[in-house]
Amino acid sequence: MSHRSPYHRLPGLLLAATLLAATLLACTTDDGGDPTPDMASEPTPDMASEAPDMAPDPIDMAPTPDMAPDMAPAPDMAPDMASHAMGDDIDMRPEDFDCLLDWTPVRRFYVTNKLGRLDETLAVANAPEGGVYPPGTVIQLVPAEAMVKRRPGWSPATNDWEFFFLRFDPDGAVIIEDRGTDDVVNQFGGNCLDCHALAEPRWDFVCEQDHGCDPLPIGEDVIRNFQNADPRCD
Ligand code: HEC
Repeated sequence: MSHRSPYHRLPGLLLAATLLAATLLACTTDDGGDPTPDMASEPTPDMASEAPDMAPDPIDMAPTPDMAPDMAPAPDMAPDMASHAMGDDIDMRPEDFDCLLDWTPVRRFYVTNKLGRLDETLAVANAPEGGVYPPGTVIQLVPAEAMVKRRPGWSPATNDWEFFFLRFDPDGAVIIEDRGTDDVVNQFGGNCLDCHALAEPRWDFVCEQDHGCDPLPIGEDVIRNFQNADPRCD
């Protein structure tokens, strides 16, 4: 029987070897699974490889040229926000156009400044040599037409003026019929910029009677009547 023992023990040895191997593997696994070194080293390469993946995202967003035009219609976005003073810019909402008679009269027109810079606006309006009106300036001669000074650089072609053609609800609420720079027309089909661009440069697109623009077909009496009948003043 003893000679059989080796044969009988062989499986035992194999088993022992297997167990040993399993133990070693287990130890190896334990070592490998040791959270500290592995987690520390693995995430790093993973994140490192993700970082380059993330980098292209900003680059994908980079088509700023595409986004810029989308974002550019800030005039369309801003009306959703409350009254629109943003730093040195003002994006007028209908309710920002209030009763013209409450503003400051300057010769034939009325001015206000929606960014709290009325002193600067008046200084330019009264300067014999003219000047550039500050952002926030709103000028109206008649209730339905307005010029609003936007932030510097907003529209070089109009010296940053935004033109408005307004109309009114029966209750006097303002409706912005049209707004913009070079394509706004009044009720007579006259393009605001075509006329106002004729003002000598030092007058910053303000026409009055002698700044170089073609005259309006209405005289001062008619203008005063329009002003005194401003539907927003009721
Ligand atoms: C036919 C030319 C013409 C067109 C078109 C025209 N304007 Fe004028 N605008 C004038 C003239 C001239 C005056 C000055 C009138 C005066 O003082 O008697 C004036 C006056 C004004 C004023 C007062 C400040 C200033 O320039 O004297 C504002 C504001 C104004 N216009 C806005 C507009 C807007 C906005 C539009 C378009 C919706 C417009 N105008 C279209 C010629 C024009």
